[in-house]
Amino acid sequence: MKTTVATFLKMKQENQKISMLTCYDYTTAKIIDSSNVDAVLVGDSLGNVVLGYEDTLSVTMNDMITFSAAVARGCKQKLVVVDMPFMSYQVSVEKALENAGRLMKEGRANAVKLEGGRSVLAQVKAIVDAGIPVMGHLGMTPQSVNAFGGHKVQGKTLEAAQKLIDDALALQEAGVFSIVLECVPAKLAAVLSQKLSVPTIGIGAGAQCDGQVLVYKDMLGMYQDFSPKFVKHYANFATEMTDAFNQYDAEVKQGIFPALEHTFKIDEEVIEKLY
Ligand code: KIV
Repeated sequence: MKTTVATFLKMKQENQKISMLTCYDYTTAKIIDSSNVDAVLVGDSLGNVVLGYEDTLSVTMNDMITFSAAVARGCKQKLVVVDMPFMSYQVSVEKALENAGRLMKEGRANAVKLEGGRSVLAQVKAIVDAGIPVMGHLGMTPQSVNAFGGHKVQGKTLEAAQKLIDDALALQEAGVFSIVLECVPAKLAAVLSQKLSVPTIGIGAGAQCDGQVLVYKDMLGMYQDFSPKFVKHYANFATEMTDAFNQYDAEVKQGIFPALEHTFKIDEEVIEKLY
C-alpha cells in the first residue's frame, strides 16, 4: 500500500517514527521504493547536490518538474513530496497556487513543501483548499540563507523560539499535514512535536521529532562539498565509486575489460569476407 498523508498522521498517533529521504532520479527512486523508508522528498537541495549550485536559490520550476516526474515514475509505494522552489510561491497567492498545481500535474507530486510560517499562510491555505497536501518547513529554511546570514541554528532565544511555535501552530491551523524542522535545538523541537497534532520531520532537530529526513547523497557519503553536523554517514559511496572508477580505468588500459562475455558474436564466414 502506498504511503499517503493519512499514513503520516496515523504514524504520529500511533507513536511510530517516520523516515524520509530526499531523491532526485528514477534509479534511486526505485531503490528507495523497495526499502522500508516511508516517504521521499524531491528537495530543492538538488540545486546543491545534483546541479552543483552553492545554494538552492537558482533552482527553477522546470528543474523541480523534471526531477519530480522522474522520481514519481520510480516511486509506486512511497509518498512523493516536492519542494516549491525559491520565488515560485512568495510573489502571490495566485502564482503559488498555479505552481503547486504544475508540480502535481506535470511533476506527478503527491504533496508540495514550502518554506516559511505566517508570511506564507495565505499561500498555504489556498493550496490546501485546492486539494493539494502541503508540508511546512520551519527553522533554518535554506531559501532564506541570505536573510539568516548563513546556515545558522534557529530558535535559540525565547523570542525566536516563541515565533517558531506560533508559526508552526499557524501552519497547522492552515492545514499542513506535517512540518519539517531544520536546524532547531533538539529541546525546542521536542516542545513543538508535543504541541502539534501533525507530525514534525526533523533534520538537525534531534530525536524527539516524529520523523527524520536526510539528503540521500549526504547519508551515503557521496556529496563532499560540506557535511553538516546533523548528517550521519551510513556508507562511504564516494570512496567506493572512486575505487570502482579506478578499477574500470585500469582494466580498460590493461585490456581486461571488456571480456568475452561482454561482447557480441558474428559468423566467422562474414568476417572472412571482409578481409
Ligand atoms: O531540499 C531539501 O532537501 C530539504 C530538506 C533538507 C528538508 O528541504
